[in-house]
Parts: sequence; C-alpha cells; structure tokens
Amino acid sequence: MRSHLLNDATAEQYRRSVTEGVERVARKLATTRRPFTGVTPDDLAPLVSAVDLDQPLGDTTAALDELEELYLRDAVYFHHPRYLGHLNCPVVIPAVLGEAVLSAVNSSLDTWDQSAGGTLIERRLIDWTTERIGLGPSADGVFTSGGTQSNLQALLLAREEAKTDDLTKLRIFTSECSHFSVQKSAQLLGMGRSAVVSIPCDRDKRMQSVVLAAELARCAAEGLVPMAVVATAGTTDFGSIDPLPEIAALAAEYGAWMHVDAAYGCGLLASPTRRSLLEGIERADSVTVDYHKSFFQPVSSSAVLVRDAATLRHATYHADYLNPRRTIEERIPNQVDKSLQTTRRFDALKLWLTLRVMGADGVGQLFDEVCDLASEGFDLLAADPRYDVVVRPSLSTLVFRYVPGAVTSPEEIDRANLHARKALFASGEAVVAGTKVDGRQYLKFTLLNPETTVRDIAAVLDLIAGHAEQYLGENLVHAS
Ligand SMILES: Cc1ncc(COP(=O)(O)O)c(C=O)c1O
Repeated sequence: MRSHLLNDATAEQYRRSVTEGVERVARKLATTRRPFTGVTPDDLAPLVSAVDLDQPLGDTTAALDELEELYLRDAVYFHHPRYLGHLNCPVVIPAVLGEAVLSAVNSSLDTWDQSAGGTLIERRLIDWTTERIGLGPSADGVFTSGGTQSNLQALLLAREEAKTDDLTKLRIFTSECSHFSVQKSAQLLGMGRSAVVSIPCDRDKRMQSVVLAAELARCAAEGLVPMAVVATAGTTDFGSIDPLPEIAALAAEYGAWMHVDAAYGCGLLASPTRRSLLEGIERADSVTVDYHKSFFQPVSSSAVLVRDAATLRHATYHADYLNPRRTIEERIPNQVDKSLQTTRRFDALKLWLTLRVMGADGVGQLFDEVCDLASEGFDLLAADPRYDVVVRPSLSTLVFRYVPGAVTSPEEIDRANLHARKALFASGEAVVAGTKVDGRQYLKFTLLNPETTVRDIAAVLDLIAGHAEQYLGENLVHAS
C-alpha cells in the first residue's frame, strides 16, 4: 500500500498516474460535443450504488475506466459554448496547473509552518485585490471557500463592530435581488432571517437608494440598529450593480457597515474597459470577490477583503497547538488568525499562476468579451417577438421568457418555459438556468464563456422556442 503514498520513492508513479488522468480529461474535453448527456439521477444512481467500496480495483487504469462511466461521461461540462446555466466559468489553463501543484504539495494555509511561501503568495494576492478595489493602506483579507463564506465572514465582522450586543435590535439592509447567503448569514449569526430588511429594486434591478434611505430612517426612529448595508455588484440573476456611491453615503450617515458582494462583478476589477462600473466600491468596509466566477478560476477561489485589517481580529482565536500568541511577537505570519477555516487549501496559487502567465488585463479582456456578448444577446432577444427580455445587462446574464404569439394564460406560459428548460437539459444540447421575475417563470443565460457566440445564443433560442411550442401544441391537443 505504501506504493500509493506520494513521496520521493513514488515520484515516477505520480507522474504516470496524473498524466493518465490528464489524458482522459483532455480527450474528453476535445471530443465533447454537448455540454451534457441528459443522464438522469435514475440512470446513474444504480451504477454508483453498485460500486463496492470495500473491494478496491487496485489499479489506476481500472479506476479511471470506472470513473469514466460514473462521472466523466455524463458530467456537466462548463467549457462547452452552449453551457449557459449557472455562474460557472470555463477555467484557464494556468489555474488548472496551479490546482495540480497545490494538491500535490498540499500546503495548508492556516499557519506559516504548514505553508511557508504559500502564506506570502496569498498575502500578495490579497494586497493586489485590495489595491484594485481601492480599500486603502490598512486593508487586508483572506481567501475563503466561496462567496457564501465570504459574505458570512463580512457580516460576522459587521455584527462584532455593531453598536449593540442586543442581536434582536440589529438589522441588515440588502436588495430583493441579493444573494440568499445574506439571509443564511443572518440566521447563522443568531439574528434570524427577520433581521434582513429587503429593499426593492428599480426597473434595472438595482437597489432603490431612496427606499434604503427611508428604511434606514424608519429603523433608527424605532430604536433599531442598522448593522450593515449589503450592496450587490453583480446580482446573481441580472448582473445588476447597486448604486454604490449613494449606498456608501447612506451607510456612512447611519453608521452602518457597508459590505459589497462583488462575487460576480469582481471581474470588472481586471477589466481594461469597464472598471468604472464599480465606482463606489472603494468606500466599502468589506468586499466579497469570487475569482471562481469571473476570473476563470476553478472552484474554489474566493476572498473577503476589509478596509481595516484590525476588524479581522473578530475571527481570531489562539490555540497553543497551532497559533500561540508568541507567533505575533515573533512576527510569524499566520493566515488562520484571519480565517473562519483552519486547514485551508492554497487556492491562491491558481490566481497567482493565472496572473503570472496571462496578466490581469488578459483575464479582464475575457470578462469584457462575455459582457459584450451579453449586450449582443440582449439586442437579439429584444428584436425577437417570441421573447420578452427583462433588462439590458451590465454584466453577462440575460433573463428572458418565451411568450407565444397566440394568447395563452400566464400560468401556461410559465409551464411552457419550465418545460423548455427541462427538455433542453434532457437533450443535453444546451444548459440554461431559470428564475422567477414578479412570480413568473423566466429563463436565464449566464454567459461566462468567451467561446460562446451570438450564433450559439440564436441557436439555443430556437431550441427553447421549439420545445415550448411543442409543449403548448401537445397541451392544446390534449385540451381539445
Ligand atoms: C452575488 C452572489 N453572491 C454570493 C454568491 C455565493 O457564492 P458561492 O456559490 O461561491 O458560495 C453567489 C453565487 O452565485 C452570487 O451570485
């Protein structure tokens, strides 16, 4: 069994094994014609259940053959130009290389004595990001597992900085379009979901700052404490960016912590042409960035950044076995002092290699391309009588709905859209997402692949219309 341990004696086997795995994936990527096979849980579950985990195959090739059947054959492939579903990006090769290096070396970024240079590399990237945001000289931050964790940590700091310990009095203000991790965080932080005040959005799906002002005033008048305002720079559905300067001014007026959830919009930090869309982000107390959304990084890669490094102390505990206080006096850098996690992946390495190979402009150009594509896609949808499209995108999502020419009930249109999404997924020809707007069923393209073309968008719109029409046709036949 020792032959499976990665060490000096097995370096050659490591090379062979990993190369064999890389070969399989490379072949798959080169020959995948659809983003999905349409496999169902009922198809796959018996195959996975049938594997006897107590009977090892003992052989890499056999294990990879099995994996081909259980996973690789039917995986959802984000690199395919017709994967237009959730906020998953195709990944850049330098980052995948980073992934291979970081898992083999297996540093843990909690303490210097488990990572050495890894800690310094992560710190440089945090500084690079805070500089791009403009958070000032006292800024700091830490890599996290994703936007959900980044938002949770930011709100934890906000709660600890709040002017009262009475959790029942604390309120968080965020738009109706913000990510559900804000509500989850409120619950995890002991405040309950009712602590979140939902602010309506305008027609462009941006938080209405006038309503925010009124709600902050109401809250103050009722003796409640405005703990935080969470602005979103790139909402999950619409890519809309809240009016950051107005929100910053209001947060300052009421002494509330300003958090900007830029999980999606952070790609603008690298954009050579669109950085100005984030104006006002530099006034935040904390910011979430998800490199695994708009920096073309593999999952996971995210960070929470703060204006004032001292606020990170709210996540600090000292343990004799890990990060004793003396390490501060000895000036030994320990990232665990800033993190909710203990053992933590060296995800930063992926971004490091990406910047060292491609440069920030290279990443930003890719994000610009998908934003341009979304703009063209909007024009296509707006000119297509079969579709109703919600807003002109600031980033790279399109939310739309098939609307048949003949008069049909809104409920029937909902069902036709839902059916089209499911039928498309089952066919595997394209993957699109869905959401609700004003209670009605809509479809969504999240465009994060620069290889996707306007022709792909047009073709997928035809496929959707075909499925929806077929559904409506069949239903008419059944009804008559
Ligand atoms: C705006 C926004 N914030 C936070 C998140 C959560 O990020 P993660 O899935 O990395 O936890 C998402 C995910 O889509 C998001 O769109």
